[in-house]
Amino acid sequence: MISVEGIDGAGKSTHLPWIKELIERTGRYAWSTREPGGTPLGERLREMLLHESMTPLTETLLMFAARREHCQREIWPRLESGTWVVCDRFTDATYAYQGGGHGVDANRIAEIERATLEGFRPDRTFIFDVPANVGRERLAKGRSLDKFEREELAFFERVRATYLARAAADPQRCHVVDGTRPIAVVRSDLEALLRTP
Ligand code: ADP
Ligand code: TYD
Repeated sequence: MISVEGIDGAGKSTHLPWIKELIERTGRYAWSTREPGGTPLGERLREMLLHESMTPLTETLLMFAARREHCQREIWPRLESGTWVVCDRFTDATYAYQGGGHGVDANRIAEIERATLEGFRPDRTFIFDVPANVGRERLAKGRSLDKFEREELAFFERVRATYLARAAADPQRCHVVDGTRPIAVVRSDLEALLRTP
């Protein structure tokens, strides 16, 4: 399982199809999905999470409720049958957004993670890294913004710092990809990373 992370506007959605394509070039099937979401219930929870106001702990609990459904109904059966899974955001996003961004204690998130996922983690995580103002400028060009995307720049700097700290603490799993470079350069970087076992 590969997860793709980063602040809003870092380039996850741009590069996820490329990661899927690279895997499939090696003759394996890759299923791509996203969080919050990935199941009918998860997509309904996503609507609430992205548009309704709630306390940070409620947000954390709903993220993990959606994640449990996603894992048990979709991700784990696929991994067991040998399919690769590429997920747009996973547990690191909860540490970064609800933890770093909204101040939920990381130990509390870790307790909920243990109870919900029983130690399950992605095998590899690509963290697209851009400064908060770059992410913001890229988003501003597009569609209307959701609840998280409307947060102030300082929120995104905390989210970014949490991602970088998690990457530094788990270098076997996490790879930080400099998302400020041109798309073609980022692509070839991803290709090299995917070739490395
Ligand atoms: P995310 O999914 O991380 O929120 P997107 O992949 O949707 O971000 O990218 C946001 C915007 O930035 C899109 O318009 C995309 O084309 C553009 N973009 C993504 N990566 C780059 C890059 N390396 N250089 C310039 N623009 C980029
Ligand atoms: P995303 O799918 O990246 O948004 P978009 O479709 O606009 O690119 O993610 C939705 C939002 O949910 C994003 O702002 C981050 C937030 N989020 C959390 O706060 N915690 C989480 O655990 C997850 C998975 C997402």
